[in-house]
Amino acid sequence: MFVFATSDKGGTGRSVTSTNVLYRAALNGEDVCYLDFDFGSPTAGAVFGVSGVERGTTQGRGLHRYLHGKAVELQRIDVWQEARVLGGRPAGAGQLVLIPGDEGGGEFNQPPSDELIQRCADLLSHLNEEFSVILVDLSAGRSLATELALAATGLERMSRIESRWLVFHRWTRQHVLAAEGLVYGVNGLIRQAEARGHDPVIFRRRIRFVRTATTEPSSERERLGGLSAAQVAWLQQRNKELDLLASNRQVGRVVRLGTIPLDPVLQWQEQLISNEDVGRGVANEATLEAFDDLAERITDKSTWEQP
Ligand SMILES: Nc1ncnc2c1ncn2[C@@H]1O[C@H](COP(=O)(O)OP(=O)(O)OP(=O)(O)O)[C@@H](O)[C@H]1O
Ligand SMILES: [Mg+2]
Repeated sequence: MFVFATSDKGGTGRSVTSTNVLYRAALNGEDVCYLDFDFGSPTAGAVFGVSGVERGTTQGRGLHRYLHGKAVELQRIDVWQEARVLGGRPAGAGQLVLIPGDEGGGEFNQPPSDELIQRCADLLSHLNEEFSVILVDLSAGRSLATELALAATGLERMSRIESRWLVFHRWTRQHVLAAEGLVYGVNGLIRQAEARGHDPVIFRRRIRFVRTATTEPSSERERLGGLSAAQVAWLQQRNKELDLLASNRQVGRVVRLGTIPLDPVLQWQEQLISNEDVGRGVANEATLEAFDDLAERITDKSTWEQP
């Protein structure tokens, strides 16, 4: 199955959440692969903690060059082996492979040609034979990478492969409105998909939203964490308003796949969170649970059935 990770705004937590969710899925035995389609800023290697590909590969075999027909073979990085902190594949875990972008590759600057679309579709369907989840991290906003993904999956021969779309947003008014626009707006995902051969009704059912870096202002913890009573009350009020706004804009509970709490580790560093980070009390257990939960929901058929 393909999972496309997108967002309207930049810096939503799309890449950090996606890498962590894939890592948890691999730990749970799934064979997973991460495609860095953020061609202008391919930094997934940094989040996985793989040295030498922090800003994409310099070997000339990244996704950008491959899709443009300039590289015959793609570089595949075995994250279990190559990531500084992981030190090998644990028993029972599935494959965890990163296919990097090219350092300095740059965003696509013209609409995808037929050749590019076919090449992308070939790559995706080939990977689908080997992996149970192929996560494609797209760049923020209405990018040509998104158009390429929609065009490739919109081909008749690709229609048998399950696609899912995750739209990431922060929990603020501006982000909720932006996420709504990206999906339902003029030139939004649904209309773009229809123009690329998708059935808009079916495509809409493939979209879910993920809230990132949220706080839970209802808890007493906030007060213990240094917030004044007035601040807690203010946050609670904003939270209520945002809930209402989100459900009015079709970004609410019904179409939400997950909520990732604000984590102090991720606030300071883009990285995989391990059981050890939680064991040492550095990262929050709730963060790991949220990643596990999302990993499960992505592959759980019943989550994606229409109510
Ligand atoms: N749950 C979280 N708690 C705290 N900080 C977070 C959380 N998730 C992500 N962040 C931080 O937010 C920043 C942006 O995250 P990330 O790079 O994943 O966003 P992105 O949407 O992929 O951005 P871009 O559009 O630049 O690709 C990073 O510094 C990351 O560590
Ligand atoms: Mg990113």
